[in-house]
Amino acid sequence: MHYGVTIRCLTSADLREVDQLRAELGWNQTISDWRRLLALAPEGCFAAERNGKIAGTCTSVCFGDELAWIGMMMVHPASRRQGIGGRLLRSCIESLRRRGLKCIKLDATPMGLPVYTHIGFLPECTLTRWEHQGLLPDAEPSSSVQTLSEKHWPGVLALDSQTMGISRAFLLQSLAATSLLALVYVSEGSILGFGMLRSGARANYLGPVVALPGIGEMLVRVLLSRNDDRLTFWDVLDLNEPASALARQLGFTPARPLTRMYLDTNTVPTNCEKYWATADPATG
Ligand SMILES: CC(C)(COP(=O)(O)OP(=O)(O)OC[C@H]1O[C@@H](n2cnc3c(N)ncnc32)[C@H](O)[C@@H]1OP(=O)(O)O)[C@@H](O)C(=O)NCCC(=O)NCCS
Repeated sequence: MHYGVTIRCLTSADLREVDQLRAELGWNQTISDWRRLLALAPEGCFAAERNGKIAGTCTSVCFGDELAWIGMMMVHPASRRQGIGGRLLRSCIESLRRRGLKCIKLDATPMGLPVYTHIGFLPECTLTRWEHQGLLPDAEPSSSVQTLSEKHWPGVLALDSQTMGISRAFLLQSLAATSLLALVYVSEGSILGFGMLRSGARANYLGPVVALPGIGEMLVRVLLSRNDDRLTFWDVLDLNEPASALARQLGFTPARPLTRMYLDTNTVPTNCEKYWATADPATG
């Protein structure tokens, strides 16, 4: 079925070609997102190659030994249902198991769902991608909301690892460096929330936002009030009902469902209450 298809590691020389495939599928990642994935896990990103052309990709990133996240699972429309997606996925899983990763997760599109279910992934929870076009309302100014700077990082990373159960230092610092806007909520010297707004290929992207309930709402409102009028995506965990309600109240509309899935054991459960906006489907 998959005659002449080789699975190999993705390299920086492939990025222009794989980003073309990404653009054809209408996904929102940019070349710098691909570069970040490669920098995070050069040995965990795979390409399927046929006749010198890339037919599909699959990436994975590891957060310590605890959690790995699979993403950018794409197969060219002309090469689908030939087992290529399954082979890419198995290559990722094998490389993660060799490294002793305990928990493997991903955010599945409806098209990805049967492929992952076939391999044994189970659903953890659902998300909705919300979208909005145009300017959003002004937010009440607050001296507690500040631009994220060097001095805030210890507090940001502590809040993030308490919330997520893993360390995402490299990912967060890399995302902040390329964000349109990165904010923190500071109270009596403690960081109680942080959030970012980024520029994607098709739309601005709100996330990640990690914050205590209530503070998350304020951070989202401030971030969006400083947004331009470009299309904006926001991936919300459906169990975070205040976030979904805020999306609706601000005039966002549901664009597509996603299913968060895990393989084997869910040793790092998602903290829906404090996770107001996810970082990217490719990194969770
Ligand atoms: C999802 C995607 C990567 C699957 O790639 P693929 O190479 O077609 O997948 P495979 O041929 O390896 O399929 C493996 C198994 O998954 C299941 N499957 C795959 N696509 C399916 C579909 N459209 N409907 C039902 N089952 C499907 C089947 O059980 C299949 O095995 P079979 O063909 O022997 O029955 C591809 O459809 C794609 O790129 N879609 C658009 C991007 C996307 O949504 N990616 C998922 C991101 S989470």
